[in-house]
Amino acid sequence: MSHTITLAPFGIEFPCSDEDTVLEAAFKSGLSLRYGCKHGGCGGCKAQLSQGDVEHNEHASAISEDEIDNGIALLCCAYAEEDLVINLEDYDEAELIPEFPLRLYGAKVADIRQVTHDTVHLILKGSELVNYKFTPGQYLEIKVPGSAESWRSFSMANTPNESGRVELVVKLIPGGAFSNYLKNTAEVGDDIEVRGPYGQFQLSETSADIVMVAGGSGMAPIMAMLSQLVAEKSSRNIRFFYGARACKDLYFLDEIQALGSQLNSFEFIPALSALDDEDDWHGETGFVTEVLEKHCTSLRGAEGYLCGPPPMIDAAVGVLKGKGMFNARIKFDKFIQNT
Ligand code: FES
Repeated sequence: MSHTITLAPFGIEFPCSDEDTVLEAAFKSGLSLRYGCKHGGCGGCKAQLSQGDVEHNEHASAISEDEIDNGIALLCCAYAEEDLVINLEDYDEAELIPEFPLRLYGAKVADIRQVTHDTVHLILKGSELVNYKFTPGQYLEIKVPGSAESWRSFSMANTPNESGRVELVVKLIPGGAFSNYLKNTAEVGDDIEVRGPYGQFQLSETSADIVMVAGGSGMAPIMAMLSQLVAEKSSRNIRFFYGARACKDLYFLDEIQALGSQLNSFEFIPALSALDDEDDWHGETGFVTEVLEKHCTSLRGAEGYLCGPPPMIDAAVGVLKGKGMFNARIKFDKFIQNT
C-alpha cells in the first residue's frame, strides 16, 4: 500500500510505500529532506506533521514521547500510516532538490590498508565512479557483500576525481558484518555496490575561521574538507582538533601534515585520552573537548565542523557555543555505529 506525502507549503507530493520510511521514499522520488545519520540517532530529520500519523521503528532514539504526541516525526524512522502533510516552512524550496542525485554505482576494491589496530583505509575504484560526484563531507553506503539488502555508511575521505577513486575509513567493529567481510574475505578486485551521495555536512562558502573537531573515523570527512580547502587555495585560519585514546589509534598523520603544509594557516592538535604505558607522547592529553576548551578563546564569527561519536559532538557543541560560536555556524555529522 502507498500513501501520499505532501510537503507544505510547496505543494510537492511523493508516494511512500509501507516498506519505506518517509525519508527513503523522498530519496526514491529524487527529493532531499534534511537529515544526518539516517539511523534515528541524531535528530537531523525531525519534522512537524500538520496532517496524518506515522509509526516509528525501534531505532528512533532522537525523539521524545512528548515530541511524538505533538506531531513531530523522525523521518528516517517513520512509516506513514496514512497520507501525510509535512510542514517545511523553514525550508527553501531549492533545498529539496539535491545538488548531486542519489545513484547506485558498481565499484571494485582497489586497496585495503590497515592504518591502526581497528581502522582500515579502504579504496574503491571503477569506471562508474568516474561519474560519482559529491561534496566533501558527504557519505555513501556500501552493500555488505553477500547480504540481501544490508548497507553501511562511510564518509568519503577524498574529493571527487576523474580517476574514479573513492577513499573511505572503516572502523572495524567486532562481529560487524562489513568488518567481518573486510577482515576475513575481502580481496582487491572484489565487486562492491555503493549508493550515494548522502548527507548535508559540508563547508560553507565564507572566509570565516574554521574549527574542526573529530574522533575515530570522523577523520574521513574532515580529510575531504581539508583537501577541498587546499584545492581552493583557501586562506582561512583552520584548526583541527582530533581525539583518540592512545598513540596506536592515531593515523593519517603524514597526510594531515601534507595537507596542512599547503594551507595558509593550519594547526593540527591531536589529543590522547588514555595513553598506553609505552606511549612516548608530548602532545595534548585528555578528552578532545577539554583540549578544545583550553585552546580556544572567543570563537565569535568562526565556524565549527564536527564529526565523530554523538557524545563527543554534543560536548564539542557545548564548548563552541560557550566560546561564542553561533549555533547556525556549527555543522556536525554524528557517526552512529551500525554493525
Ligand atoms: Fe534521522 Fe539522524 S535521526 S537522520
